[in-house]
Order: sequence, then C-alpha cells, then structure tokens
Amino acid sequence: MLWVHTPKPAQWRSYGGKGISTHEGTSLMELSGAWKRTARGAMLLGADGALKPTIFAEMSALALSTGAINLGQGFPDEDGPAEVLEAARQAISDGMNQYPPGIGFSVLREAISAHQMRFYGLAPDPDREVVVTAGATEALAAAILALIETGDEVVTFEPFYDSYSAMIALSGAVHRTVALRAPHFQPDHDDLRHAVSDRTRIILINNPHNPTGAMLGRETLELIVELAHQHDAIIVTDEVYEHLTFGQTHVPIATLPGAWDRTVTISSGGKTFSTTGWKVGWMTGPSELLQAILAVKQFLTYVNAAPFQPAIAVGLGLPDAFFQGVAGVLQQKRDLLSSGLTQAGFAVSESQASYFIVADARPLGFSDAADLCRRLPELTGVVAVPISAFVTDENKNEYASLVRFAFCKRVDVLERASAQLAGLAR
Ligand SMILES: Cc1ncc(COP(=O)(O)O)c(C=O)c1O
Repeated sequence: MLWVHTPKPAQWRSYGGKGISTHEGTSLMELSGAWKRTARGAMLLGADGALKPTIFAEMSALALSTGAINLGQGFPDEDGPAEVLEAARQAISDGMNQYPPGIGFSVLREAISAHQMRFYGLAPDPDREVVVTAGATEALAAAILALIETGDEVVTFEPFYDSYSAMIALSGAVHRTVALRAPHFQPDHDDLRHAVSDRTRIILINNPHNPTGAMLGRETLELIVELAHQHDAIIVTDEVYEHLTFGQTHVPIATLPGAWDRTVTISSGGKTFSTTGWKVGWMTGPSELLQAILAVKQFLTYVNAAPFQPAIAVGLGLPDAFFQGVAGVLQQKRDLLSSGLTQAGFAVSESQASYFIVADARPLGFSDAADLCRRLPELTGVVAVPISAFVTDENKNEYASLVRFAFCKRVDVLERASAQLAGLAR
C-alpha cells in the first residue's frame, strides 16, 4: 500500500471553548494559554492584542532591509579564540555527538569549578554545585520557574534584560523593580530597601549590567545580601559579562560573607569567547538549590551542545592573558564608539563593562529614542535600540531619550558607524 501524506488544511480546529477557533483570521488574543502573560510580561502584547516582535528582531530586520550597520543586537562579528573553535571541531570528530549527562560533561563542570576558584576563590563541587545549561537564558528560566510560587515577588533592577520579565510573568510572580538612573545607573539604596519585602522570593541581579554597562558597587552587593537574609529571599545573579569589564574587577555576589548559601550564580561562555550561538551556560550554587532548579531544567532542554561543552572547558582554562586581552580590546572599542557618539552630539554615559553603551539623544533634539531608532538607519545608516525596550510601560518616560549601542563589532565597523553618526550633528 502506498501511504500518501495529506496535510490538513491550514486552519485552526475547534476545541470547544479553549480559545482555539475554527476560522482563519481569528484574533490571536482568543488563543488562551500562558503565552499571553509571558508576552505581556515582556511588553510585547499591545492593548489591541497584537503580538509585537522584540525590539531586537524589529531593529535587526531594519538593519537587513536598509543595509545599515547593526549596533542594535549584542553579538560579536569576529570569531573567538582559535583553540576553542578547534576544540569543538575535534570533539565532533571524536564522536562527542550524543546526549551529555543531565548536569553536563564532567570536563566542563570541572573547568567551571576551577575557573570560579582561579578568579574568585570559590570552590563549587563540580559534581553537586555546578550544572551546565543551554546558555544563561535556560538557567534563568529554570531558576525562576523552579523557585516561584504564584504571587511571590521577584525584584530586579530596571532597565532589565528582556527575558527576566517574560519568565517572571510566565512563572506567575509579581515583578518589582528598582530604578537604575542615568548617568551612573547605580540603585538608590532606599529604593532597594523599599522594594524587597517578606513577599520577595528572588532578588534577581545582573552584574555587570545589560543594557547600561554599570557594575554594582560593593556596598550595594552587601545590602542585597543583607536584605536577602532579612527577608529570606534567594539571590539569582546573572554574570554573563563577568570578564568584559573596563578597569574594575568583577566581584561575584556569591563571594560576599553570608551570600553563598542563598545564591545561584549564572554565567555563560557566549560573551567571553564570542560564541553566543553555542549556548553553553552554567549555574553554580548550593546543591539543594541546584537540585530544585535541575528538576525543572531537565524538562526544558534536558541537555545541549555536546561538542561545544569540552570546547568551552578549553576556553575557561586559557591563560590570564586571554581574559585581559578580551577586556582590553573591548575597552578600546568602547572608547572608539563613545568618542564617535560624543562627536555626533549624544550625551554618553560611561560604560564600565559589557558590550553596551548608553547615549542620551536629548542634546540632539530627540526626546523619543524609540522614534529616533526607527529613523536612525535612514538618517545615518546605523541601527541601535531604545532603552525603553528594557523598561516597564509605567517607567518609560524616565528613559525615553536613551539609546543603547553595542560596541562588540570590528574596529572598521565602529569607525564607519562613528563617521556616519557624525552626520546627526550637522
Ligand atoms: C544580561 C544577559 N543575560 C543573559 C544573556 C543570554 O545569555 P546566553 O546567550 O548565554 O543565553 C544575555 C545575552 O545578551 C544578557 O545580556
């Protein structure tokens, strides 16, 4: 008998009252499910029910359609260390192409543990206190989904990386924010004290910080630990830019007295080794917390990136000169773009770390950065993203004229972008 595949007609079928319609053209809003609160949390659901693309998707599409230089999305345009890339090729040749163990290959867990000792004096047990994840993104999602009960509160800084608000909303938690204000983007300690309460389950920090490039001062870190103890909260800390700092040494909050027992530290190899597409991340922390998070993580991806795991292990073991080198090169790129933006007429905040710099467009006569970013390709051939994309609707006004530019691009690209942006000043 010959079996012929006959696809169903492209229409939604009816599941009586579940919000799935029989008709084409039915509003997406009628489709029930947790996607709605996730999209709303990520500020991607319009009042009319329209699902908007993320600002990164919108701006990258604009860069593609106009041929503009994309300083919107934070990915490098140069390869990372040759040893790391070669190790991945070798791992594929060596047959490391099947599922790794649920917590990751031991070679990577041992390298992560050794890295934490070498740079920070922390000694996580590679078998119990280290878990490999599908990028920092999965670690964040699993931590939030695992630790939250509906109605718990999560405190983050604002602006915040967009996956935080999406996952907080999906988990059923309430999102409380503490403002980081221009030009230094450090939190007011009274604001922080005010935001954290007995309802707070997680204090979620991002240090160094995307999108502002700020690094939290030691006193702020100490206050966070104090508040976590006082209100019995868990600290989840996203440190993916830990090695991309300009003159200041990164201090993981887990190294502070009293922090380790209630802190989950998340990082990944994407930024440090310019391998954002490999999605090799990890979390370190006390075994009970990691076990609870693993209970969720194992049903998200289970595992990922088999041949890339040993390659990232090679990266973590590179000599100090490599880590100083990546930060040094990036600092020069920051300086280049910063002076280009200043010459173009922006008021530029000093970025202490990360891939990003924040520039205020108000001195150029633009009070709405979202509008400016939509016009920037046509005006200058450059794409950037408005900081309002990282902010809740209630607080958009405070950040309305701020733009984020990524400087993790080739020097010639940044030079061209600077020359083109100079046109704004004329
Ligand atoms: C603050 C922050 N956290 C997490 C991520 C995602 O990391 P990964 O690619 O390892 O999932 C990013 C990427 O831009 C980021 O900026």
